[in-house]
Amino acid sequence: MAVLVAGGAGYIGSHTCIELINSGYDVIIVDNFYNSKPEVINRLEKITGKSVKTYELDICDCDLLEEVFKDNDIDSIIHFAAYKAVGESVEKPIEYYNNNLKTSLNLFTLAKKYKVNSFIFSSSATVYGNPKSLPIKEDFPLSTTNPYGTTKLMIESMLMDIGKLEDSFKIVILRYFNPVGAHKSGLIGEQPQGIPNNLMPYLLKVAAGQLSELHVFGDDYPTIDGTGVRDYIHVVDLARGHVKALDNIDELEKISIFNLGTGRGYSVLELKDEVEKASGKKIPYVVDERRPGDIAECYADASKANKVLGWKAERGITEMVEDSWKWQKENPRGYEVEMNEIKK
Ligand SMILES: NC(=O)c1ccc[n+]([C@@H]2O[C@H](COP(=O)([O-])OP(=O)(O)OC[C@H]3O[C@@H](n4cnc5c(N)ncnc54)[C@H](O)[C@@H]3O)[C@@H](O)[C@H]2O)c1
Repeated sequence: MAVLVAGGAGYIGSHTCIELINSGYDVIIVDNFYNSKPEVINRLEKITGKSVKTYELDICDCDLLEEVFKDNDIDSIIHFAAYKAVGESVEKPIEYYNNNLKTSLNLFTLAKKYKVNSFIFSSSATVYGNPKSLPIKEDFPLSTTNPYGTTKLMIESMLMDIGKLEDSFKIVILRYFNPVGAHKSGLIGEQPQGIPNNLMPYLLKVAAGQLSELHVFGDDYPTIDGTGVRDYIHVVDLARGHVKALDNIDELEKISIFNLGTGRGYSVLELKDEVEKASGKKIPYVVDERRPGDIAECYADASKANKVLGWKAERGITEMVEDSWKWQKENPRGYEVEMNEIKK
């Protein structure tokens, strides 16, 4: 079965490609390397021992994208291709709406034209806004506080309308909590461009001596130690959630929504302590003002994915941090160094 992985060279997409290939799916990556590097493909091939068919193109260009559908008999699409930085989306809303909505509309259009059977969409816990209670269930009210989150919500709404059509097209919306970690090989991981927006890559860079100190945004939240609490999930567990969704697609309803998280939250300072343990480095930090839009606590009720898909996050916080640190330590310049140089 052939799966088109849109944005498959990115952080979550690349880990998902490995799990798909290991489960016997044929993978076709489409990516313009806007936020990833072609070197990822070499590393995927090294890890899986298979050649990975890859098209370098902008998914916003429907004519170019159509060539991929003409060349291949595509059964399913997994759509990771988006801009994803919350802060940047406030500065550049037009670019975010353009890219995230156009990639989606082009994929929907061609999925219909070429009779693709199923579509999995990368959504985010950000669509729950500031939840009234915890843990968060899939039927909680939805709202957003920034253009990035709004693109996710808009695409979810489009999918709900598309799902009403009387055809055999199955839709799965996966709402991710906070992906961290890296593949055990240390060959692939997250490589943010510039100063990282997310906590884990930031912590890794401080531990590696590439950034001087951690900025903790608020230590007066009603949480275990006053700092924000999030549900971190190992990216390999997340990747396997996509495989489980595809494996079970025939039994699923026409549209299904699942939270993918562990159901357990960790605070900023708890995560910092774990990175200190894994790296053996002290992480200096300063406390700054709360950031507007940040919430105190966020963690998933992931029991629906467990019940319906038989999926459960298996990797705990120590493994998440150790795997992240291995990636950082062995690739201090990320994918800038080609694999054959590392081995020398
Ligand atoms: N990482 C997170 O914390 C997180 C959390 C929740 C949801 N998500 C969602 O999961 C998906 C994947 O996230 P990620 O962390 O792997 O991001 P990423 O930036 O590492 O991967 C996205 C990939 O899509 C590609 N891409 C973007 N626009 C494209 C276009 N127009 N044409 C072709 N390729 C394009 C990028 O080059 C990149 O390789 C995104 O949709 C993101 O919004 C991520």
